[in-house]
Amino acid sequence: MKLSNRLQKIADFVPKNTIVGDIGCDHGYIPIYLAKNNISKKVIASDISKNSLEKTIENVKINNLEKDIEIRLGDGLDIVLPFEIDTVIIAGMGGLLIKDILDKNKTKTNTITHFILQPNIASKELREYLYENNFEIINEELAMEGDKFYEIIYAKKGKGFVTKDIYYEIGEKLIINENPLLKEFINYKINIVEGILIELKGVKTEKSIKRQEELNKNLMDLKEVLLEIESS
Ligand SMILES: C[S@@+](CC[C@H](N)C(=O)[O-])C[C@H]1O[C@@H](n2cnc3c(N)ncnc32)[C@H](O)[C@@H]1O
Repeated sequence: MKLSNRLQKIADFVPKNTIVGDIGCDHGYIPIYLAKNNISKKVIASDISKNSLEKTIENVKINNLEKDIEIRLGDGLDIVLPFEIDTVIIAGMGGLLIKDILDKNKTKTNTITHFILQPNIASKELREYLYENNFEIINEELAMEGDKFYEIIYAKKGKGFVTKDIYYEIGEKLIINENPLLKEFINYKINIVEGILIELKGVKTEKSIKRQEELNKNLMDLKEVLLEIESS
């Protein structure tokens, strides 16, 4: 089975020989990949939706991996015991939902060593949460599928901080590692902000003026990061 570009980059962050929980596994492709390639000691695949989990059950059966992958139905980290998993994958959901899953079971979260998180939206809010709650971002990756970018964050418990607010939006590790997709990713974000500014042009309500100020500041910060990359 060949993983998509996004799923492969998520799987590549999984340390060897750990016990992994894939929360919100849906199709179960990552647990299957990890088990088939002997990357993990054990994999627990879970989802809150019975329908989603049916896909995992079916795919695990097709691949004869019933002995290697434990399948559990339930909400977030409710389905694991403290210290039961070393690595958690929470991918393909909004950053706010990922943050809620980590925050809801703090005692369990605190017993996990490796966090592989892939927010579809609200990555800025997720990074803010991580930095404010004693996580350290160890590495980041970008994946592109179709015309969509995906940010993948590998974090551990620890102490981290950002030196500029824009690094909540653009992961600093992507800059340090000279990620090959970063320039394109920032230009994509710049285009979105410029598009909104064009739409708001001439709108003089108090709310719109405040929004335009925020967007102009964001645009400046994004362009500054672009300069930083181009000059390095
Ligand atoms: C879009 S799928 C992503 C599947 C896979 N992780 C991926 O990245 O391709 C999101 C999955 O998360 C599940 N989900 C949403 N909230 C959840 C929660 N609180 N706990 C467990 N699973 C959840 C959904 O049922 C859905 O199957």
